[in-house]
Amino acid sequence: MHVPVLEKEVMEFLEVEKGAYFLDGTLGMGGHTKAILSNNNNAFVFAFDMDRESIKIALKNLSKFRERIRVIHDNFKNMFNHSLPFNKIDGYLFDLGISSFQLDNPEMGFSYSKDSPLDMRMDKTQELTAEKVINDYSYKELTRVFSEFGEFKNPEKLVKEILLARKRKRIKKSGELKEVIRALYKRRKTMDPLSRVFQAIRIEVNRELEGMDDFFHTLFMKIKKGAKVVVISFHSLEDRIVKNSFRKAAKDGYIKILTKKPVIPSDTEKKNNPRSRSAKLRAGIRI
Ligand SMILES: C[S@@+](CC[C@H](N)C(=O)[O-])C[C@H]1O[C@@H](n2cnc3c(N)ncnc32)[C@H](O)[C@@H]1O
Repeated sequence: MHVPVLEKEVMEFLEVEKGAYFLDGTLGMGGHTKAILSNNNNAFVFAFDMDRESIKIALKNLSKFRERIRVIHDNFKNMFNHSLPFNKIDGYLFDLGISSFQLDNPEMGFSYSKDSPLDMRMDKTQELTAEKVINDYSYKELTRVFSEFGEFKNPEKLVKEILLARKRKRIKKSGELKEVIRALYKRRKTMDPLSRVFQAIRIEVNRELEGMDDFFHTLFMKIKKGAKVVVISFHSLEDRIVKNSFRKAAKDGYIKILTKKPVIPSDTEKKNNPRSRSAKLRAGIRI
């Protein structure tokens, strides 16, 4: 069962009962959209997701509300290329990253707890996969990926190990990559490097951070006065971009920030829904 993160807080910041049109930039399993539609019988949601599989499941979960949703298979960063009634939309939600469905689905190749093909594409129509990043990227490119997106201070050793391993045989499965990393960091008790390597590749494959600040800048400029924006991020790199985008928009006079400090889940929510553990919610209103 998918549980939406910080659901109550999202509904409050969006003031769902007062609005008519909402945009969910990251539909996922449809958890938050369902909450919007259930909390307001007159609400209509425009929803984006770049993963067709997730959209299929969300549409099943939302079958009761079919007349009150329009789903678009695209990156939310392209939303202004679609003719949507932006002058009517009262609230925008972005619950960033991947869903528990994507993480747990071995075919997606996000998780290193299962031996799965190195894929990691949210959008299966794109060409770049995790396998291509690991096997075809140069030493320089891999070093950039691990230092920028995995926050490795000295990724050179790791990159050399990968280059050696892939010379022997193309690295096609997450288990094979895991072995390379394990061998290098075998004296470590926690497997933190493992999660950072997988995070870095995932961010690179899906271009998760690319153009994010420009997107938020445009969003805050274009939305109607009084519209709210709620963003949930799950790691520090993402949150830094969101935080800076909110601050810049506030300084430029576009928005008022509604969350001086990011809102985080309660201990109970963290216990009941481990995926929520690292969530940080930021909200603002267009002025
Ligand atoms: C954390 S999940 C959202 C879960 C959802 N709020 C729910 O309650 O079911 C993020 C979803 O957004 C999608 N996604 C992530 N980045 C995206 C982007 N830039 N454009 C469109 N979809 C994106 C992912 O494919 C995933 O399905």
